[in-house]
Amino acid sequence: MGEVKSRQNTEELSRQFSYIEKAKGYVEEVSRQLNRKPTCCVTTFGCQMNARDSEKLVGILEAVGYEMIESENADFVIFNTCTVRDNANQRVYGRLGELNGHKRHNPHMKIALCGCMMQEPTVIEKIQKSYPFVNLIFGTHNIFKFAELLCTMFENDRMTVDIWQDTETIVEDLPKRRKYPFKSGINIMFGCNNFCSYCIVPYVRGRERSRHPEEIIREIKNLVADGVVEIMLLGQNVNSYGKNLEEPISFAKLLKEIEQIEGLQRIRFMTSHPKDLSDELIEVMQQSKKICRHLHLPLQSGSTKILEKMNRRYTKEQYLALVNKIRTRIPDMAITTDIIVGFPGETPEDLEETIDVVRQVKYDNAFTFIYSKRTGTPAASMEQVPQEQVKDGFDRLLKAVQECAREQVAKYRGSVMEALIEEVNENNPSLVTGRLSNNTIVHLPGTADMIGQICQVSLDECCGFYYMGHAVEK
Ligand code: SAH
Ligand code: SF4
Ligand code: F3S
Repeated sequence: MGEVKSRQNTEELSRQFSYIEKAKGYVEEVSRQLNRKPTCCVTTFGCQMNARDSEKLVGILEAVGYEMIESENADFVIFNTCTVRDNANQRVYGRLGELNGHKRHNPHMKIALCGCMMQEPTVIEKIQKSYPFVNLIFGTHNIFKFAELLCTMFENDRMTVDIWQDTETIVEDLPKRRKYPFKSGINIMFGCNNFCSYCIVPYVRGRERSRHPEEIIREIKNLVADGVVEIMLLGQNVNSYGKNLEEPISFAKLLKEIEQIEGLQRIRFMTSHPKDLSDELIEVMQQSKKICRHLHLPLQSGSTKILEKMNRRYTKEQYLALVNKIRTRIPDMAITTDIIVGFPGETPEDLEETIDVVRQVKYDNAFTFIYSKRTGTPAASMEQVPQEQVKDGFDRLLKAVQECAREQVAKYRGSVMEALIEEVNENNPSLVTGRLSNNTIVHLPGTADMIGQICQVSLDECCGFYYMGHAVEK
C-alpha cells in the first residue's frame, strides 16, 4: 500500500492537468469581461518550503492564464501562510483587512488563503466569521489539487474550504515557475516526526514522507537541463531522509548520487537536525566538490535542561562535540543556527549557557526568535517566562551573536572565492550581488549578463555581514 501511494501518483497528475484545461476556460471568461488578462499576486510567508509551494501555485496560475504581478491590488490575491510564530499569523490578518479594501473597488477580485496556518481549525473558524469575503481556503496537504480548487472556486459564489488532515500522496511534476532561473529548491521530504515541544510544524505539515531518490534525481536533472546550477534540498529534517522508504537510503547516499549529476555546480540543503547528523554525512560533505560550505544546524538552546524540555534529544555537550567534529574535518564550513529565547522555564542562567555555546561555536549567523506559544503543542501548557526577562535576554543574546558573526564573516577578507551571481544590486545598478559557497553575500561591479554565473571574486572590504569585491580572472 505505502509503496504505491507514496510513489508519484500519475493518475492524479493527469486529473490535475485536465483541471488546468478547465480552469483556463474560466480565466478566459474573466479576461473577456475585463477586456485584459487578469492579474494575480502570490504573497509568501514563512520558510523555503512555502517558497517552493508558491512556485507550484504560480506555475499553475500562469498555465491557466493569469498575469503575475507584485502588487496586491490584483484580480486574484493568494496568501501562502506560515504559523510557526504568532506574529506570522497576525501579519496575515492585518493584510487581509487591507485586501478587503481593494476588493470593494474590484468586484472581479478573488482572494485565496493556503499554507500552514490554514491547517489550524481555529484559524478557519475565525476567517469564516470575520473575513467572509475570502473565496478559497486550502491547506498544505492538497496543494497539488490547486487547479481543481480553482475550478470549484469559479463554480461557487460561497467560500470554498478544503483542508486535509494528512496525506500519503505525493504529486510532483505539475507546472512550476521558478523565482530564479539559475537556482531552485527541491522537496526531498515532507512533514516532520520530531515533535519538538514548542513547534507546530508537525501538526500542520503532517508525518514525515520521503520522496524516492530516483524521482529527486530526475527532477534535478531536468532542472539542470533547464539552466539551474545550484539546488537547495528541502526538508524539515533532511538528516532523517529515506529512513522510511521501503528501500531505505541515507541522506548522505542521496547526496553522493546528486553529486554525480553533470552540470550541477552547487548543492545546499536545509534543515539538519543535530541529533541525526551522521559521520557518513560529514565524510560526504568533506569529499564533495559541490556541497556548499554552509551548514544550518539549529541549536534552539544551549542549556541541556531546556533542550530536554524542548524534546530536542541532544545535550549541550553533544552539540558542541558535533560542531567540533565538523570543524576539525571541514575547517572552512560556515555554521549558522536558530535559537529560541524565553522557552517555558528558561532562567537567565540557562540563557548564559546558550550564549556560551554561541561564543564557543562562533556562528557565522544565527536567527534568534522569541518563544511564541502555539496552541496544541506540549510547551503551551508549561509555565511561561515573564516578558521583561525575555526581552532582556533576547538583547543580550543578539549582541553576542552579532559580535561572533562579524568576526566570522570578516575571516576571508583579501582572499579570492567563488560567487554565484544572483542579481543586479537593488540600490546601485552598476553592482551585482553574488553569494559565496559559505552563504556570505558579496557586491561587485558587474552587469546583468553575469547573473547565474559562478565568478572568482576578490573579497576586498568587509562591511559587517557582507563584502565589497571585484571579479578576477580564473
Ligand atoms: N525543521 C527546522 C525548523 C523549522 S521552524 C528545524 O528543526 O530546525 C524554524 C525555526 O523557527 C526553528 O528552528 C525554531 O528556532 C523557530 N521556532 C519554531 N517554533 C517556534 C516557536 N513556537 N516560537 C519561537 N520560535 C519557534
Ligand atoms: Fe519543528 Fe522540531 Fe520538526 Fe524542526 S524538527 S520542524 S523544530 S518539530
Ligand atoms: Fe512556517 Fe509552515 Fe514553514 S509553519 S516555517 S511555513 S513549514
